[in-house]
Amino acid sequence: MSQDSSLQNNVHSTSLALEVTDIHKTFRNKAQDLTVLNGVSLTVKQGEFVSIIGPSGCGKSTLFHIIGGLVQPDSGTVSMNGREVTGERGHISFMPQQPALFPWRTIEDNVILAQEIMGISKKKARAEAREWITRVGLSGFEQSYPHTLSGGMQQRAAFLRALLSPEELICLDEPFSALDALTRSDMQRWLLDIWEENQRSVLFITHNIEEALLLSDRIYVFSNRPGTVLQVLDVPLPRPRREEIIEDPIFLRLKREISQMMKEEQTS
Ligand SMILES: Nc1ncnc2c1ncn2[C@@H]1O[C@H](COP(=O)(O)OP(=O)(O)OP(=O)(O)O)[C@@H](O)[C@H]1O
Ligand SMILES: [Mg+2]
Repeated sequence: MSQDSSLQNNVHSTSLALEVTDIHKTFRNKAQDLTVLNGVSLTVKQGEFVSIIGPSGCGKSTLFHIIGGLVQPDSGTVSMNGREVTGERGHISFMPQQPALFPWRTIEDNVILAQEIMGISKKKARAEAREWITRVGLSGFEQSYPHTLSGGMQQRAAFLRALLSPEELICLDEPFSALDALTRSDMQRWLLDIWEENQRSVLFITHNIEEALLLSDRIYVFSNRPGTVLQVLDVPLPRPRREEIIEDPIFLRLKREISQMMKEEQTS
C-alpha cells in the first residue's frame, strides 16, 4: 500500500463515529434458533444523522443492543472513531425502545443520570435539565416518579436523558412512537435544533418514513428478518430543514421509493 492510500484509509476510519461491519446474530434456545441479523454493515460519520427503517421484528433493536455492548454478536465488529469496541458498554448515549427510567429516581434525577455518572456537577446538570424539562412540556413533574407519568411523558423524559448524555454518538430507538402528532413534531424540531447546533452523531430507528426524511442525511432500509441492508439512500435536502420540506419534490420522490420498498418487503 502506498503511503498516500494508507494515510487516506487512516483518515477515513477515524472520521467514522460508528462503523458496524458484517454483524451476524442468532438467538438460540431449546425450542428453536432464530437468526435475526444476517451480515449487517453500516456507518455513521462524525456529525451525521443516520436513520434505520425496517419491518417489525427485523432486528433493529437487537442491532442497537449489539452497538451498545448489551448483546454479543456471533460475528462482526463494532468500531467507534476507529477503535474496535465490540461488546463494550458505556460508549454511546442510548435511548431504548422501552423508556428505561429508574422507578426510584425522580424525573429530574433520571434526566441527569448520565451527567452524574460522568462526574459533571449536579448543580450544573440540574440547571440544564430544568430548562429542557420545561421545553419538552414536563415542567411541574421534575420531582415526580416515572410511574405517575403517561407513556408519552416517560418517553420524553428518556429522550431528554439521551440528549443530555455527553457521549458523541446518540442511538435513539423509536423515540417518538408514543407521542401524538403535534408533540412528535415539536420533538423532531428540538432534535433538529440541537443536532444542527452541536453536530452530534445520531443513529435513529423509526417506522415513520416522513420522520426519517425530515431528519436524516442517510437512511438504511432493512429487509425482513433476518435483517440485512436492502438499500442505503442519501437524503440530499438542504439544511436547516423545517416541516415545509415535506412538499419538496426530492422528499416526495424518496418517500415514494421507500414506501414501495417497504410494501414489496411486507408482501415478500
Ligand atoms: N434476547 C432475545 N432472545 C431471543 N429472541 C430475541 C431476543 N431479543 C430479540 N429477539 C427476537 O429477535 C427478533 C428481532 O427483535 P428486535 O427487537 O430486534 O426487532 P425490531 O426490528 O426492533 O422490531 P420492532 O420494529 O417491532 O421494534 C424478534 O423476533 C425477537 O423476538
Ligand atoms: Mg425495535
